[in-house]
Amino acid sequence: MALFVTGGAGFIGSNFVLDWLEQSDEPVVNLDKLTYAGNRENLAALAADPRHFFVQGDICDRALVDHLLATHRPRAIIHFAAESHVDRSIHGPAEFMRTNIDGTFTLLEAARSYWNSLKGVELRQFRFHHISTDEVYGSLQPDDPPFAENNSYQPNSPYAASKAASDHLVRAWYHTYGLPITISNCSNNYGPYHFPEKLIPLIIANALAGKPLPIYGDGQQVRDWLYVTDHCSAIRCILEAGQVGEVYNVGGWNEMPNIDIVNTIIKLLDELRPDPTGSYARLITHVTDRPGHDRRYAIDARKIERELGWRPAEIFETGIRKTVQWNLANQAWVEHVTSGEYRQWLDSNYGARL
Ligand code: NAD
Ligand code: TYD
Repeated sequence: MALFVTGGAGFIGSNFVLDWLEQSDEPVVNLDKLTYAGNRENLAALAADPRHFFVQGDICDRALVDHLLATHRPRAIIHFAAESHVDRSIHGPAEFMRTNIDGTFTLLEAARSYWNSLKGVELRQFRFHHISTDEVYGSLQPDDPPFAENNSYQPNSPYAASKAASDHLVRAWYHTYGLPITISNCSNNYGPYHFPEKLIPLIIANALAGKPLPIYGDGQQVRDWLYVTDHCSAIRCILEAGQVGEVYNVGGWNEMPNIDIVNTIIKLLDELRPDPTGSYARLITHVTDRPGHDRRYAIDARKIERELGWRPAEIFETGIRKTVQWNLANQAWVEHVTSGEYRQWLDSNYGARL
């Protein structure tokens, strides 16, 4: 038995693989293209571990996916691979359509063909789990209830639209072909190995470098933040006990405006790595807002709690402290992933804003 993971060298995927192999001896086949967001260094702890089989490749490569499924005969596919950054999707949507939509389509077709070849217990236990986002539901008004699984889809960014399309494909492969799928829609994750293009690691990296801390618009946009290992435990619960064809919303019950997130990080850095020239708060810089910026996301995670008994283990205060400490202790990792391509990205995204 094995798990087949896509995108397992990215932020959430690598946390999932590391967590999985800490708790289980079931091997993991990890297919990742190693885009700018994928980094083998995240998996360095598994370098000599025979339970981890890493393949650099593209989920759009049907022949490769067919070959890996036929060779390793996994009992489940956990599909993390995606282009995942909203701002990049605004600058260049094409890659989002290719990986998130075409890639998911290719994977579904390969999974369907593999599943059709299975018999007996292998057939009965096979699952395709698709990792998605709360962003497919659109934006909430301040007094709206949080997103439940039956909310309508109203994606607003090219990223969210491509993830919404992939969710629809996965759903259709269940209804039409009976492929045994589950889907989870999760809120914003944070924690170790978070690529410093996203808000939390970007603020930590910029503060330590004495660079401006860019706040889009008024900074009052609200996100629900979940510590990444809690997302991993939710996926394990769904894999173990989730009902075929079902969608589970996963969130941290932790809505916070961006400016409060930034101020929390500043307070922690002022305590853990004080700057002799004064508080990092001096670096806060309001910049031009993101086009079509969603105002508020919030997740109603009662279904997964009621049906599968999952709840987040981490509260924000402890999770964010661990995250800041991890970044301080892993500055070499941050330096390696913020290579030439990353600097070009900073110029194209922030050059005109600041
Ligand atoms: P990430 O950008 O850090 O990692 C994505 C990984 O996918 C990278 O390792 C990359 O190399 C790989 N990849 C990209 N294109 C590929 C392709 N064509 N073939 C094979 N591999 C490819 O993303 P993440 O933050 O870890 O997100 C993982 C999943 O979780 C995504 O599907 C994302 O939509 C979803 N999600 C993310 C969040 C979040 O807060 N980060 C929240 C909810 C859902
Ligand atoms: P991000 O981490 O990109 O996640 P998402 O857009 O998927 O929620 O952004 C989180 C929030 O932080 C979002 O409201 C945009 C905002 N933000 C900034 O204010 N400044 C920044 O430099 C970045 C990257 C994000």
